[in-house]
Amino acid sequence: MIKRDFEAGIDPETRVLSTAYAEEDAGVELSLRPRTLDEYIGQEKVKENLKIYIEAAKRRGEVLDHVLLYGPPGLGKTTLATIIANEMGSAIRITSGPAIEKTGDLVSLLTNLGQNDIMFIDEVHRLQRPVEEILYPAMEDYVVDIITGKGPSATSISLSLAHFTLIGATTRAGQLSQPLRDRFGVTLRLELYTPDELTLIIKRSAGILGVEIDEYGAREIAARSRGTPRVANRLLKRVRDFAQIVGDGKIDREIADFALGKLEIDKLGLDALDRRMLEVIIKIYGGGPVGIETLAATIGEEAVTIEDVYEPYLLQIGFLARTSRGRMATRLAYEHLGISYSPQSQADEPDDGQLKIL
Ligand code: ADE
Repeated sequence: MIKRDFEAGIDPETRVLSTAYAEEDAGVELSLRPRTLDEYIGQEKVKENLKIYIEAAKRRGEVLDHVLLYGPPGLGKTTLATIIANEMGSAIRITSGPAIEKTGDLVSLLTNLGQNDIMFIDEVHRLQRPVEEILYPAMEDYVVDIITGKGPSATSISLSLAHFTLIGATTRAGQLSQPLRDRFGVTLRLELYTPDELTLIIKRSAGILGVEIDEYGAREIAARSRGTPRVANRLLKRVRDFAQIVGDGKIDREIADFALGKLEIDKLGLDALDRRMLEVIIKIYGGGPVGIETLAATIGEEAVTIEDVYEPYLLQIGFLARTSRGRMATRLAYEHLGISYSPQSQADEPDDGQLKIL
């Protein structure tokens, strides 16, 4: 029988491996956050390009072009926005798509911006359409058009804005409307981090937290952090607790393995939710393909959560394949779960015969 999350006792928002931002991350994330591009580990292509754009804008004495950051949650989009502001020497205002409820809210945010300021809108794909439409002339011509009065006496006033940079962040660039997407001069895609990069991030964070960690301890945590610094830093905190209470305070491979075992996070960083999703595909849908909506309904999750939170890592490690007919569990997933590989559907390979590792 398939248990829904609450029956299984796992709340997707509070799972240790959740890539969603949690209240408990606040203090730690702030202190661990790199402040310059040089301190920022990983995302080499993104950093390389950003350095050029920032330097060029500074030399010309112009504002930086609007930037769209996209990629799975927890990869450091907000961190990168604050670094960009820092490198540009600009002030930053941080808000999010769902927080801007009315057009008036956005107008007041925009009219309060100073020259060269950066406005960061997280989850920019969740802006309501009328709010979004205010952004078009603001981004293009630094003006907002306000309608005053009603009916035949309504008039439109154009307010000019300071030259600013909008940094938008989204987990799904595909959900952004074309007119909005077109107005970002720079689009940067953040990738999941490699275990080597996560190891460096964990060692840096341990240094800031003042906890001793050796190379093997850092590697063990990195391997189970699903390519995500937010998860890596959260696991580091949990392992530190075990190290202090059960061990001698120092993090090595043994205590990391012990602690992560207690958290039921397996060697590859999968938790009970990931394993259940794969098991559903294998045991109920014969290995797939199964449509995302069907899969979502079966495990009691929203399709967007599966796409944004679970899938990126499972695709990255080659456990899941995305085909035009739906999701499929790969041989690697069967092997990891200890189930013999016998897909029941005809289509036991993705369309192009290759596993897509995105
Ligand atoms: N902490 C979180 N993300 C980081 C990154 N990319 N580099 C350094 N420290 C981090």
